Amino acid sequence: MSEITDFVVTIDGPAGGGKSTVAKNLAKELNFNYLDTGAMYRTAALAAYRAGIPLEEYPQVAEFLKDRRILNRDGRTFLDGNDISDDIRSPLITSLTRHTADNPLVRRQMVLLQRQAAKGRNIVTEGRDQGTEVFPDAPCKFYLTASPEVRAIRRMKQLQENGESPSYPEILASIIKRDEGDMARQVGPLRKPDDAHIVDSSDLSAQEVVSLMASVVKEALKTKSSCEI
Ligand code: C5P
Repeated sequence: MSEITDFVVTIDGPAGGGKSTVAKNLAKELNFNYLDTGAMYRTAALAAYRAGIPLEEYPQVAEFLKDRRILNRDGRTFLDGNDISDDIRSPLITSLTRHTADNPLVRRQMVLLQRQAAKGRNIVTEGRDQGTEVFPDAPCKFYLTASPEVRAIRRMKQLQENGESPSYPEILASIIKRDEGDMARQVGPLRKPDDAHIVDSSDLSAQEVVSLMASVVKEALKTKSSCEI
């Protein structure tokens, strides 16, 4: 049997739906590479911020990024060869990332990098626009979602584990605001691909979601076809 390459599994969906954990574990289960595209927009924001470039200056930010090397591989993210995986998760960078994600010139650059990352490899990629804009021909697409309330409770638990005392109404409001921003974006908005499997993780554990997706993808790999809906 010839080896399969260039097989792309996309997972899109709103913030807090569990995409990262699911995508990472699904990639492991399938022996695929894992691509975290949100991390790339975060890195673009971090790079411009650290260089003192005003993030609202779209052409200037894109010009500056042309000479930067942004790489996301196997769950780690690098800027010009330096591992900045932890730095990009700070609340400041999380809020600044809106500017690079809304910048159409930066999106064009990131889309090219994402397609390059898939060349000659098999990947599970997660983001907002992976099944719609970046890999419209991907054989397997998933849209992973959960109610805003469930996502807010999960986020609360994460923060509490880190010793913080978050406020539920504030977290819920910020999740709803992020959804609105993701869906209203002019370029690369969050949309459900027409040919995606919708998975609602409100009542499922991450492992249950991974098992469900893995069985769908394995069936497609066996028959070298696409994931049936
Ligand atoms: O998924 P994560 O929260 O790390 O993504 C950071 C931000 O990047 C998100 O708020 C989202 O707006 C944006 N993003 C995007 N397109 C993607 C992935 C993430 O616009 N493919």
